[in-house]
Amino acid sequence: MSIAQNTETDAKLRCISCGATPDSAGQDFRCTACGDLLEFFFPGWISGPDAFNPPALDPTALKSLWLSRRTSRDALDQSGVWRFRELLPHIPNPEEHVITLREGNTPLYHLPRCARATGVENLHAKHQGMNPTASFKDTGMTVAASSAHQGGFRWVACASTGNTSASMAAYAARGNMHSLVLIPEGKISWGKLSQSLDYGALTCQLRSDFDGCVRILNDLVRQKPVYLLNSVNPYRIEGQKTAAIELMEQLAWEPPDHIIVPGGNLGNSSAIGKALLEMRELKLISRLPKLSIIQAQGANPFYRSVREFGGKKLEPMTADTLATAIRIGNPASWKKALRVLQATGGEVEEVTEVEIAAAKAEIGADGIGCEPASAVTLAGLKKLRRSGFVKSGESVVLILTGHLLKDPDFTIKFHRGDLFDGTADEAEAAQVKYLQRTPVVLDANLGVVIAALDAAERDSGSDSRRAPSEPSDAKEKLNR
Ligand code: F0G
Repeated sequence: MSIAQNTETDAKLRCISCGATPDSAGQDFRCTACGDLLEFFFPGWISGPDAFNPPALDPTALKSLWLSRRTSRDALDQSGVWRFRELLPHIPNPEEHVITLREGNTPLYHLPRCARATGVENLHAKHQGMNPTASFKDTGMTVAASSAHQGGFRWVACASTGNTSASMAAYAARGNMHSLVLIPEGKISWGKLSQSLDYGALTCQLRSDFDGCVRILNDLVRQKPVYLLNSVNPYRIEGQKTAAIELMEQLAWEPPDHIIVPGGNLGNSSAIGKALLEMRELKLISRLPKLSIIQAQGANPFYRSVREFGGKKLEPMTADTLATAIRIGNPASWKKALRVLQATGGEVEEVTEVEIAAAKAEIGADGIGCEPASAVTLAGLKKLRRSGFVKSGESVVLILTGHLLKDPDFTIKFHRGDLFDGTADEAEAAQVKYLQRTPVVLDANLGVVIAALDAAERDSGSDSRRAPSEPSDAKEKLNR
């Protein structure tokens, strides 16, 4: 097997706008020449297109090496991120510096009910909420936190809508570093806040929104020796690439027709797109899935950038959505996301608050569950089906980014029927009442409970969680 190991010099930084290739990044991870974002590239991979100049990494050898690591006892091999380390920047002395919670290794599920509801039989979800801190952030955090450790930093910091902060706090604690969290006061879920507290972060709730927290943090890292762990940090993007690599492995390296991701700060879509392009370059896959990005209508600056301005500019906005994870009005990585959207031929969509809530309950009814921001993927798929962009015979993978238990308040309010009380969405919400499962309060009496069971059994014949138009005898396709 001939596998070139990454050496320290393999991964290089490059500015996404002016192409400058600095030897190292400053505290804010921005290009000192033009101020835009940096990304890693791997000059050692570049080779000619013909047999006389084959790829520097042998794709067949890589696939079998990665598979063999699944039975290893080594912590790095057990991580679903570091298992793919040939495609990541090298961390010197990994035994000393790599901080891993065995992230990645997330399941791919068939969604039979959602498949029926969308008319896409081959519909799967890659559940990144099944990571150690219950969101996709862990896959990037293990790489970026390890880089902070290797750099000898005492403090790491992020601005967050809740998941980055939970993940950062955990990895900092594991790596014996202090962590500073800046979150918008009152605008993140309790589940996420409780995580950063328990993992020991200095948690500052700023009277601002996510974008305001980012502004303060950017100024802070220029004054203090604090390592920035937001997704402008290109190590984060590299780690998050592995979700796409692992997905391709799970699909026996046969890409689906479509991958659909939520869009907030747009780091994740950039990472998944980067992985797809690199995998094709390395001949690990032979064609590209279309990568589509879905935003909440109340936090849709990228959707508007693409639809209204042809991607030429992005107008920041004041964002508002109950999917608080993606309540972001000025996404840092929009240019990276635009590039992968165009390179893969994907689409961008926006979905309403009620569409998000309904999609979340539908994913839940498949026994999977996710947080509201993840559910924009299913809501977006429905729109992409209606527009004809996704066809019924095509295969689709939704990237579910966070676990159901991240935001139980949202779920309880939806099922109790008061999520949209007093809002402009009340009338639209009435149309998805059939998805609600209201808890019942009963006397502690056997007869009463049996009566409730019998009533539920009578109702189940007409399964009240099906949309009124849906045929009740549709056959379920077995999970792969
Ligand atoms: N889904 C969830 C559950 C998220 O937490 C986020 C982002 C996204 C989707 C969007 O991903 O920003 O890469 O486009 N959460 C960040 C945070 C901003 O601070 O936790 P993105």
